[in-house]
Amino acid sequence: MTTINYTDKIPNNVNLGDDRTLQRALEQWQPNFVNWWDDVGPEGSTDHEVYLRTATSVDPQGWAQFGHVKMRDYRWGIFLNPGDAGRQVHFGDHVGEKVWQDVPGEHRANLRRIIVTQGDTEPASVEQQRHLGLTAPSMYDLRNLFQINVEEGRHLWAMVYLLHKHFGRDGREEADALLERRSGDENNPRILGAFNEQTPDWLAFFMFTYFTDRDGKFQLAALAESAFDPLARTTKFMLTEEAHHMFVGESGVSRVISRTCQVMNELKTDDAQALRAAGVIDLPTIQRYLNFHYSVTIDLFGADQSSNAATFYSSGLKGRYEEGKRGDDHILKGQTYQVLEVVGGQLVDKEVPMLNALNEVLRDDFIKDSVAGVERWNKVVAKAGIPVRLTVPHKAFNRSIGALAGIRMSPEGRVVGDQEWAARKDTWLPTAEDRAFVASLMGRVVETGKFANWIAPPVMGINRQPVDFEYVRFN
Ligand SMILES: [Fe+2]
Ligand SMILES: [Fe+2]
Repeated sequence: MTTINYTDKIPNNVNLGDDRTLQRALEQWQPNFVNWWDDVGPEGSTDHEVYLRTATSVDPQGWAQFGHVKMRDYRWGIFLNPGDAGRQVHFGDHVGEKVWQDVPGEHRANLRRIIVTQGDTEPASVEQQRHLGLTAPSMYDLRNLFQINVEEGRHLWAMVYLLHKHFGRDGREEADALLERRSGDENNPRILGAFNEQTPDWLAFFMFTYFTDRDGKFQLAALAESAFDPLARTTKFMLTEEAHHMFVGESGVSRVISRTCQVMNELKTDDAQALRAAGVIDLPTIQRYLNFHYSVTIDLFGADQSSNAATFYSSGLKGRYEEGKRGDDHILKGQTYQVLEVVGGQLVDKEVPMLNALNEVLRDDFIKDSVAGVERWNKVVAKAGIPVRLTVPHKAFNRSIGALAGIRMSPEGRVVGDQEWAARKDTWLPTAEDRAFVASLMGRVVETGKFANWIAPPVMGINRQPVDFEYVRFN
């Protein structure tokens, strides 16, 4: 059995080397992780040396270092943000008690479930994105894809560390199962729906990292409030890395839009077929991709009314986004929140106990945050002098979870009949033709400083390197 040199191989601030049981557990898991990476990690990338950011500490001034590394040799570190000895539970029924350094027996099953569900998304996205390297629009983008992939791998390590350290044998079994489920697998799929969808092309990838990694941000932020202190501290640090993933999505979509608008102005046309013939992605197609990724992602927040959400909050396991900044009593008993329902073919607001609506509260926070970035995309369109606006669809559009599941709804939020849905669905969601067209643009462009025709170059490079820097060395 291989012995892990913790300082060299797994940079950490949790004294990994001092805990024999934990060491043994991780030593058994580590080769399975590498096998998983080789099997379903980025395809054809084994010998590439990639200019990657590696977390080496939690110092906000210099938490990472950059350098060319082979991804399978990436140093998947384990970091917890610094603890605060006086930290208290600040929401739910245990307000004012000391936070937990270990798992209280009565919350064990729920905490394990929360950690496993979060952990499962990390390898899932690596699996979803594994073919994208073959069609990268530039070396810069290829590097960003790989950066996200290794950091999702590190996030898996972060959750596996908690499972191994705090959940004994069941934790080890769950950690093994995290390497066994596969995105999209009929028999053993990943836990959450959006993580079983394909990410077949780079427009989908940018939408995914904009919307779905942002779901990650909100889930992690809610867990960063947890009374289970090791979970709070590890998710807080994960958020540092998550910001880059969303940047890749936001700037990626922005660059696609920018290039499309440039060609629209050159050709003086908004005709989708003419633009497609010129090799760029027409704005209506971008809007349909947006509609799809947005609706699939907001399902991830779960049912609008959920007794689990209430339990997780009241028992201190999972807070709200920015819990500490809210002015209410942080207990929420007797408070209400509005959710949506369809009654007699009309959407109506319904007042429900807030504790049961905490998934909806988090979803609404996510929606506010998403809309802000879409407005920044619209600035790119407006700057080009084009009178089109991208919008997020109504939150009841194309939902599969909660009270709104399966309701036929236009993106503007009008309940529609089966007939209208069938007639207009193809203008609202990406069609097989849209996807085939976008796929047809996906050729590999990886010479330094070159970019595919359908996307504008970024404004600047990574870590103050030039845009034409050799971000990936192909060996
Ligand atoms: Fe992640
Ligand atoms: Fe992420």
